[in-house]
Amino acid sequence: MNLRLTEARAWQALTEHFPEMRDQHLRNLFAADPERVRCHTLEVGPLYADFSKQPITATTLDLFARLADEMELSSARKQLFNGANINVTENRAALHTALRAADTDASLAAETQSAIRHELARMTDLHRRLTIGQVTGFSGQAISHVIHIGIGGSDLGPRLLAEALGTQQTNLDIRFVANLDPADLERTLADCAPARTLFIISSKSFTTLETRSNFDAARRWLQAAGCHDADLQRHFIAATASSDTAIAAGIDANNIYRFWDWVGGRYSVWSAAGLGAFLAVGPASFEQFLAGARRMDQHFRDSDWRHNLPALLAFISVWQVNFFNYGSHAIVPYDQRLSRLPDYLCQLVMESNGKSLRQDGQPIDWQTAPVTWGGVGSNAQHSFFQALHQGTRVVPVDFMAPLAGDASDTRQRNLLLSCLAQSRALMCGQHHPGEPQRDCPGNRPSNTLLYPQLSAEVLGMLLALYEHKTFVQAQLWQINPFDQWGVELGKSMTRELAQQVETPASNTSLDASTRSLLERYRAATGA
Ligand code: F6P
Repeated sequence: MNLRLTEARAWQALTEHFPEMRDQHLRNLFAADPERVRCHTLEVGPLYADFSKQPITATTLDLFARLADEMELSSARKQLFNGANINVTENRAALHTALRAADTDASLAAETQSAIRHELARMTDLHRRLTIGQVTGFSGQAISHVIHIGIGGSDLGPRLLAEALGTQQTNLDIRFVANLDPADLERTLADCAPARTLFIISSKSFTTLETRSNFDAARRWLQAAGCHDADLQRHFIAATASSDTAIAAGIDANNIYRFWDWVGGRYSVWSAAGLGAFLAVGPASFEQFLAGARRMDQHFRDSDWRHNLPALLAFISVWQVNFFNYGSHAIVPYDQRLSRLPDYLCQLVMESNGKSLRQDGQPIDWQTAPVTWGGVGSNAQHSFFQALHQGTRVVPVDFMAPLAGDASDTRQRNLLLSCLAQSRALMCGQHHPGEPQRDCPGNRPSNTLLYPQLSAEVLGMLLALYEHKTFVQAQLWQINPFDQWGVELGKSMTRELAQQVETPASNTSLDASTRSLLERYRAATGA
């Protein structure tokens, strides 16, 4: 589309509306409108969202809904679900919603649906065989440990899901390894018996340096324990969209669990890329996880913008980033089981929307992805919350917490009350006459998401909520959220440095700083 975001009529109306909202304290918005909570909350199934502690009124949201229409958001949403090639720089679809779609979804090709079901059935069968001890290693003993090796999208989502909902009630001990640092794999394998250990190599491309290096190291570990080359294949499974590369790397074709190039890495937890998590939570929970995402997909697909939770959260975030100039966003779940969520959302938001070109390649002159970070509550209160309350920068927060738990356990109750107290303190602040060091200005915005308790369905809903929020932001910012060319530069420069270490050339084009750092490395290691 030719229209630039900042030229949209609704954007200009928002620009005129902004000073009125900027100059108000959140406390006054509540005082002025007794209906504020009712009008600024939304329930989607078990998820309750309160965005009343944001510097918005109904006018703000109406204007954003008009902006969404001007930016043709409905047509972009349709293309997303229909599998159009919306990832324009890679000329492919971003059809992660298909991975959790209903069998009856008529917008999807029958062969796509049957391929997805086929892989899920194979994953279920693998779970069954592992659970009953039918999968054996080189000595004939049953597998007891499963190590999921992957990085980025092939790690963060699966690890989050497994840690949140993995019961470990099966006979399997499932672990995750991502880092190139040998310490990660070594520590993870320290108490594993090689003959009883199975590795899942989860990599869409099957070329990622970290994952391939850990794959090689795992092979060496097995060989050192007496596994003959002929038996190595029994210990490796691949989850990949590049079967040929996996086979060329030595994976048995029967041990490959497929996903497809239209599944972006950071959107792949719903596919075989999440195999380690699938084994940890089991097929029934995984099905519930998909059902939760499906529920959010339906809500996003069918609701008008003013009653559409992903869109509303996206509007609020664009308001914060582009009008209030807030450059970061904290994610704070008061739920230990979601302690990996900030990391997961960091990749989802920043790899998707950390862009500065429009979809048509033209540069933009508005800000995009806020720095997304966070930590689990209540621990975070004792690390970074001081800056949230009294620091010079305003950091909007998304709080989330379960409502139900063991009512007799005061720890559970106090956890929830701490969450509510923090959002209230950030909003209200407090003035201490004569003690300026104790003054908290307040007027600091937050959203609060509550759910009965963390279930597979709720987790699926939460992740799909943030996926769609990220998508809506990208459409308004006019960027492509589905590529990640910036990451490629670092990868190719690593290859360039490796070459320089192996065959040092005096006429290198390396900058002086990198050259001298490399020299220090050589001096320290003799490389
Ligand atoms: O970090 C860059 C990236 O390309 C991510 O998008 C992806 O999730 C990750 O690397 C891992 O890629 P792969 O699954 O191909 O190993």
